[in-house]
Amino acid sequence: MRAPAPDLPLMFENVSLRAGDTLLLRDIDLIIRPGAPTLLVGPNGAGKSTLLRLAMGLVAPTLGAVTWGGSPDPAPRRRAMLFQRPVMLRRSAGANLIYALKHAGVARDVWPARVRDLLERVGLEHVAQRPARKLLGGEQQRLALARALARDPEILLLDEPTANLDPAATRAVEEIVLNAAASGVKILMASHDLGQVRRLAGEVCFLVAGRLHEKAAAEVFFQHPQSPLTQAFLRGDLVMET
Ligand SMILES: Nc1ncnc2c1ncn2[C@@H]1O[C@H](COP(=O)(O)OP(=O)(O)O)[C@@H](O)[C@H]1O
Ligand SMILES: [Mg+2]
Repeated sequence: MRAPAPDLPLMFENVSLRAGDTLLLRDIDLIIRPGAPTLLVGPNGAGKSTLLRLAMGLVAPTLGAVTWGGSPDPAPRRRAMLFQRPVMLRRSAGANLIYALKHAGVARDVWPARVRDLLERVGLEHVAQRPARKLLGGEQQRLALARALARDPEILLLDEPTANLDPAATRAVEEIVLNAAASGVKILMASHDLGQVRRLAGEVCFLVAGRLHEKAAAEVFFQHPQSPLTQAFLRGDLVMET
């Protein structure tokens, strides 16, 4: 089987998205390359989820272009997306992963080994036979990560995956994310938890009111924020329209 075409670099060129009279994103120029996790931060309503939906190809820009590995074809090749609340099929945890492997075109004879490997990567070996929808919230989110990893993604798009989780479950999810990053998966993740951004980010994109306000290496973002607006956000002030 030929390797699928790559999804990276993910490129936004002069992208704007309008819904009715509202501009959800304005003039976004952004290139996502392989490397340490890129975190999208900004207040609620800044456009983080919208940007991820464009990155997944679920919506098309009103103006400008989104391309994956140089191609404008939005069909996902090696990318997967995770939402705040995972939706599992009404079957066992293991069977949810088999479903994902089947749809990723993985050969049937390796399903059992891949399921074991995926469950191990997310620490869920002990619940393989349990109905997925009966798992705890944090376990379901870990299973959703395993399901995304089943596609052997080059890039994982994560939309506040720990927003509904307690600290222990959050830590478990963060560890999986860091392990995936260490194994070469590019992470593009939205978060409005600055502590989490410090723990995970190699690079930060700061969005306000649909604009990409600042993009910097994580150390620079936190230690030498360039603009007064970023400084205000980092102080914990409420940040609104630029
Ligand atoms: N389909 C839509 N139609 C109109 N407004 C929308 C739509 N989707 C999102 N919005 C608005 O766009 C803005 C950005 O939303 P969102 O991307 O969800 O921000 P974030 O994830 O940063 O909180 C918000 O003001 C939201 O209310
Ligand atoms: Mg959001």
